[in-house]
Amino acid sequence: MSRIAYVNGRYLPHAEANVHIEDRGFQFADSVYEVCEVWRGSIVDMTRHLDRLKRSLGELSIAWPVSRRALEAILREVVSRNRVTNGLVYLQITRGVARRDFNFPKPGTMPTLVVTSRSINPAVPKKSTEDGVRVITTPDIRWGRVDIKTTGMTAQVLAKETAVRAGAKEAWMVDRDDRITEGSSSTAWIIDGEGTLITRPTDMNILPGITRMAIMDYAKANGMKVEERPFTLEEARGAREAFITSASATLTPVVQIDDFVIGNGKPGSIASGMRAAFHDGVEKLPVRHY
Ligand code: PDD
Repeated sequence: MSRIAYVNGRYLPHAEANVHIEDRGFQFADSVYEVCEVWRGSIVDMTRHLDRLKRSLGELSIAWPVSRRALEAILREVVSRNRVTNGLVYLQITRGVARRDFNFPKPGTMPTLVVTSRSINPAVPKKSTEDGVRVITTPDIRWGRVDIKTTGMTAQVLAKETAVRAGAKEAWMVDRDDRITEGSSSTAWIIDGEGTLITRPTDMNILPGITRMAIMDYAKANGMKVEERPFTLEEARGAREAFITSASATLTPVVQIDDFVIGNGKPGSIASGMRAAFHDGVEKLPVRHY
């Protein structure tokens, strides 16, 4: 079955789905995106993802290409047409097509909207959850507004590639004060000896993760202590547990940071417990089933 993408009003096989060569997303990364998890045919936490999208669009003065309600319907339709039960749905909105000039195109230029969806083989996240993953650390060389979910991600691409070449799953980026900002495509967390969850506050130095928010709600509702503060690399090395969160990784335990083994080198009980409980505690919106 050929995969189906939505592009500016049409549902097309991937081979026929194109955007213009003068699209500003292509030329300037002048665009924003969202990735939502699809779990048992439902889109996970769509409301929060679309709230964050609204903020990203607002910060960059990019117009909605369609109404929010229409976008929700398109997301569900793409999931459904691709028969995705467990996987991801991706959306990207660019400032549209215009002759290459740095300044914004003339008012009324239509933003570009692309939506795709794909399945994930459940064996892959299962293995990462059971075994835990290794992360490496690398300097955070990104721009000053990484709180906006733009597609300008060269620094993250390089960080991830460095991780993969080192045989690791993720790169934790480190600021000038030796504090972890976040993963190249995930939020970074540690758990200290008292069982307190620690993650960086959502300032302009990290993306405000939707999975981060869901885990925080879950932890607080279950009487766990959560501290939103920056933590150093040294602190992370001595942590009792560590983990990452994202729409694509859900919650994945971290068992090694560079050459430092975390805890006993196996996923910790707190992270594993939250992972097991995760999908019952998040919002799932129904999709039309095929
Ligand atoms: N990445 N930090 C960064 C830099 C990210 O790119 C992501 C998500 C996150 C976690 O955010 P959320 O929990 O909302 O997925 C944190 C997505 C999954 C991606 O680019 O594929």
